[in-house]
Amino acid sequence: MDPTVALAQAPSLSADGQEEIAPWPDLSVELCGVRLPNPTVLASGILGLSHEVFERVARAGAGAITTKSCSLQPRPGWHNPVIVDWGQGLINAVGLSNPGVEVMVDEIRKARERLRPLGVPIIASIFANSIYDFGTIARYISEAEPDLIEVNISCPNLDARFEEMFAASPYVSAQVTRRVKDNTPIPVLVKLSPNVENIAKVAEAVAKAGADGISAINSLGPGLVLDIETAQPVLHNGVGGVSGPAIRPIAVRCVRDICRAVDLPVLAMGGVTTGRDVVEMLLVGATAVAIGSAIHYRGLDVFAQACAEVADYMRRHRYRCLDDFRGQALQR
Ligand SMILES: Cc1cc2nc3c(=O)[nH]c(=O)nc-3n(C[C@H](O)[C@H](O)[C@H](O)COP(=O)(O)O)c2cc1C
Repeated sequence: MDPTVALAQAPSLSADGQEEIAPWPDLSVELCGVRLPNPTVLASGILGLSHEVFERVARAGAGAITTKSCSLQPRPGWHNPVIVDWGQGLINAVGLSNPGVEVMVDEIRKARERLRPLGVPIIASIFANSIYDFGTIARYISEAEPDLIEVNISCPNLDARFEEMFAASPYVSAQVTRRVKDNTPIPVLVKLSPNVENIAKVAEAVAKAGADGISAINSLGPGLVLDIETAQPVLHNGVGGVSGPAIRPIAVRCVRDICRAVDLPVLAMGGVTTGRDVVEMLLVGATAVAIGSAIHYRGLDVFAQACAEVADYMRRHRYRCLDDFRGQALQR
């Protein structure tokens, strides 16, 4: 049975067998000093380029919005098809297409005006091709005054001939973190990759370098899916990052390893589709939980639905706030 259905169906019973109505629990969280009305966050890149879309996602129930990663200069990205549902999840090679930081500063400013009255913070995602440029873009994006900055050092879809994944090295990850921190007063989340031997070591390095929090995980891979009739890859780029339900157990293990290794708030993601999956991430120590590919499966209602499912779990367990069970599975 779908575990979500099991959660929704289980009644709360008192000692005399009567069904009890437990009070609606408090789902709010604080992430690096920023208040979120609930722990669900729009993951970077799934929908996020324009302030109109950010507002729609916030009104649909997300507790915070992450923008698509932006670079100093505009990037066209790869040709279509850039994203395919392969059955157990998604595979994508978008190529970090974005209009460049100048346009994104404007979009984030407009989004801030629309999201502040809703109490929904905005997280600006940035990436660059060099350690130096990470500092420059951090300074630039700070002009838009996002609530948090997420530093994407972990995209698996780079052109290996010209670009490298910074998150592959604890040393380079720490250098990027230091450079960003030196160039912004805004709290910084550093986004890590599952495609490393020991994610805890990378987490320790960025924590020592001054990160305020960690986001994990970026998509897994790259992976390869073929159309066997044409013997061609389904993506124009050939390989792509794997996301969605298939990667969730890996994401949960990564988040647990990070939470064991460092004392920083973690924005967890990777395959989260239901309230049950949000609870799982919180049990291994996550502070908040981002949702990306699940929008493909459940639409924008996924945020409100996941929150209702988390609330239902909490009422069954008599938890009043997320701290009542956060980290319970950390040592198991
Ligand atoms: C189409 C697509 C585009 C993405 N673009 C970005 C991006 O620009 N920056 C980034 O940090 N992560 C990007 N990601 C990764 C997601 O933010 C997330 O880390 C990953 O998909 C795992 O979460 P999910 O399984 O809930 O989608 C992208 C993922 C997808 C599917």
